[in-house]
Amino acid sequence: MSLSDSIPNNVDLSSDRKLMRALERWQPNFLEWWKDMGPEGFQEDRVWLRTAISVEAGGWAHYDYVKMPDYRWGIFLTPRSGERSVGFGDDADQKVWDEVPGEFRSMLRRIIVTQADTEPASVEQQRLLGKTAPSLFDLRNLFQVNVEEGRHLWAMVHLLHQYFGRDGREEAEALLERRSGDVDKPRILNTFNESTDEWLSFFMFAMFTDRDGKYQLSALSESGFDPLARATQFMLTEEAFHLSVGEYGVDRVVQRAAEAMTQDPNGDARAQGAVDLPTIQKYINFWFSSAVELFGGEISSNAADYFAAGLKGRHHEQRKYSEHTVREGIYEIPVIAGDRMSTQEVPLRNAMNELLRDEYIVDCKRGCARWNKTLKKAGVDFEFSIPSRRFNREMGIYSGSRFSPAGDIISDAEFEAKRDTWLPTADDRSYVRSLMVPVYEPGQFAPWIAPPRKGVKGKPIEYDYVQFHDAS
Ligand SMILES: [Fe+2]
Ligand SMILES: [Fe+2]
Repeated sequence: MSLSDSIPNNVDLSSDRKLMRALERWQPNFLEWWKDMGPEGFQEDRVWLRTAISVEAGGWAHYDYVKMPDYRWGIFLTPRSGERSVGFGDDADQKVWDEVPGEFRSMLRRIIVTQADTEPASVEQQRLLGKTAPSLFDLRNLFQVNVEEGRHLWAMVHLLHQYFGRDGREEAEALLERRSGDVDKPRILNTFNESTDEWLSFFMFAMFTDRDGKYQLSALSESGFDPLARATQFMLTEEAFHLSVGEYGVDRVVQRAAEAMTQDPNGDARAQGAVDLPTIQKYINFWFSSAVELFGGEISSNAADYFAAGLKGRHHEQRKYSEHTVREGIYEIPVIAGDRMSTQEVPLRNAMNELLRDEYIVDCKRGCARWNKTLKKAGVDFEFSIPSRRFNREMGIYSGSRFSPAGDIISDAEFEAKRDTWLPTADDRSYVRSLMVPVYEPGQFAPWIAPPRKGVKGKPIEYDYVQFHDAS
């Protein structure tokens, strides 16, 4: 089978010999990376996976059993719908670019490489999780997320190969050389070097970290560089599933915790082998405060430049806003003034990261409200909350001081005194790790997590979503 047949695509790969040659050289290295750094121990098993084989409604979600190394990682751009013009910035209303404008080349390359790097990074972070999957249903969902992050890497590598010549090819190779958590060759963004070695962290990652990805992709999905806009639009359709894995995954842990508390004579979830609610809250605090860093500096000239160039806009730029140049307008950012807070007026263009972060936080709070509804239904008197964006920051304008989860400025001493009630302790982490035992019987679930309400794509919960090659 030729490469253009094995790679489902709508970019006319078979007639673009130059692109084909570049991808032919890259693909074996990708596969080698997948075998080394992808899910460990499951490469020979048949997994019931969704594959995008075309962009049409009926084709983008094709379900079948497939061995992961045989997954057909495709290249898709959401089809054009008529003429589109640059939607925002200084060039608003000009025709969109089908090639990289020379003056924006380095900016675009940085945007694409930064996005691309997160995709293999998360696969690396999650490579050992299969060994402790709480069910076949969850194992399958993990692998679905993993292969789609692999496809997102393909989507970005396609842009690098097709539009950035030699530099692009070098960047594409480097994407396979960096390693999550490696001291010498780490992934670009810090959260993607954090270990995700148990399933509560995996669900938190998919809820909070992947959700940053949704907003970054959204901001790029109306880019004036048309191939980037169309690539990210298609990625967003897959991303929605990843976020649901996180949000519902946490919800099932919460559900099980509530049941355990009701069953236990002392209301002790841990005594029943579940995760207690304060520990779940600490994980929320940790993962949210780590993910919220990914939006970048609160006051950012880079973000202003990206917006001015028409490369990276606001969330739902066309749908939500009527004025798209943003030459005027200010954003009032709370800033630290000694031991108090004050506000600083910033030109709106320089506050683009903060605007995107605002949207993200609203979405996180919506997810958190769902978990609280689950508690309420179970009759448990407890409420989770999303901490302030200022809490536990290591970058940006809030990193210089300490803040409580409520967002109040506090002393170092107070922070240290409360740290163990706000963030996971070594004991919390080892308790959560102790719960991680694999459950591979169809329809069975580990005792720390409730079953889902329904299976995948009309299949029952007890479906054999993964068929092991050595099962006898
Ligand atoms: Fe992704
Ligand atoms: Fe994702």
